[in-house]
Amino acid sequence: FGRRIHYHQEVESTQTTALALLAEGAPEGTLILAEQQTAGRGRQGRPWISPKGKGLWMSLVLKPAGLPISCTPQLTLLVAVALCRAVRAETGVEAGIKWPNDLLVGGRKISGILLESRAEDASLQHIIAGVGISVNLTEEDYPEGLRETATSLAIEAGRPVDRMQLLCRFLQEWEQLYKLYLEQGFGPVKLLWEALTVSLHRTIRCRTPQGFVEGYGEGIDDFGALLLRLPDGTQQRLISGDVEFR
Ligand code: BTN
Repeated sequence: FGRRIHYHQEVESTQTTALALLAEGAPEGTLILAEQQTAGRGRQGRPWISPKGKGLWMSLVLKPAGLPISCTPQLTLLVAVALCRAVRAETGVEAGIKWPNDLLVGGRKISGILLESRAEDASLQHIIAGVGISVNLTEEDYPEGLRETATSLAIEAGRPVDRMQLLCRFLQEWEQLYKLYLEQGFGPVKLLWEALTVSLHRTIRCRTPQGFVEGYGEGIDDFGALLLRLPDGTQQRLISGDVEFR
C-alpha cells in the first residue's frame, strides 16, 4: 500500500481524483495525496477543511476481491484502528475512536474517514478510503464554529508533527491489519477497535436518519453496527449515525 503514490499540490478532492484513476485501471494500494483540497468532502455531504500543507488529505484504493458489500462497515472500522494506532505511536497523543470512525482527542475531532464504494451483484468492486488528518493546523485555521469541536495533532502534542512519518506509520499499520482481516476475518479487528474506542460503556446520544436515540453503548456486533441499550431495556442496533456524548 502506498507503493504507487499520486502526489498533487491541489485537487478538488482526493476522492474524485481516485475515482478518475480507478477508471484508468488503478490497482489496489494506489494512494492519492494532496497538499490542499479545494472541495474536500466529509460524511453526510459536509465540507472538509483541508488547508495547504497542514494535514494528510489522502485516498487509498482498495479492491477486496470477492468481499460482499455488507463488509463495508467493517472496513470503515479497520481504517480507524490503523489510523488510531499510527497517531498514538507517532505522536504519543491518546486519540480514541468515536463510532464509527472519527478520531477524537479530549472530545475534539482530529481526523475523519469517508468510504465510498462500488459494488456489482452485492460484491465489492472497489472502495476508496478517504482519510483526513488535521496534523499541523493551528486554531486560526478553523472557522469559528469549528474551534470548539475540532483540534489538530500539533495543538494536542504541543509541537509540529512530521506528516511523512505519520503517513508511513499509517500505511504500515494498515497493511498489517488488512492482511489480518482478509486472513482471519473481523474478530481480531473488532477487539482492537473496542480497545481504542471512546463510544462504549457510557451513555451516548446518536443522531440517526430516523431521529435521536439515547442509550448505553454496549458494544459493536460482527458487522460493525453499534449496539445501544435503551432506557426501556431493549437493545437497538445502529448501522449509521453520529454519536454525541452526554
Ligand atoms: C468526515 O469525518 O466527515 C470524513 C472526512 C474525510 C476527509 C477526507 S480528506 C481526503 C479525502 N478527500 C475528501 O474529499 N475527503 C476525504
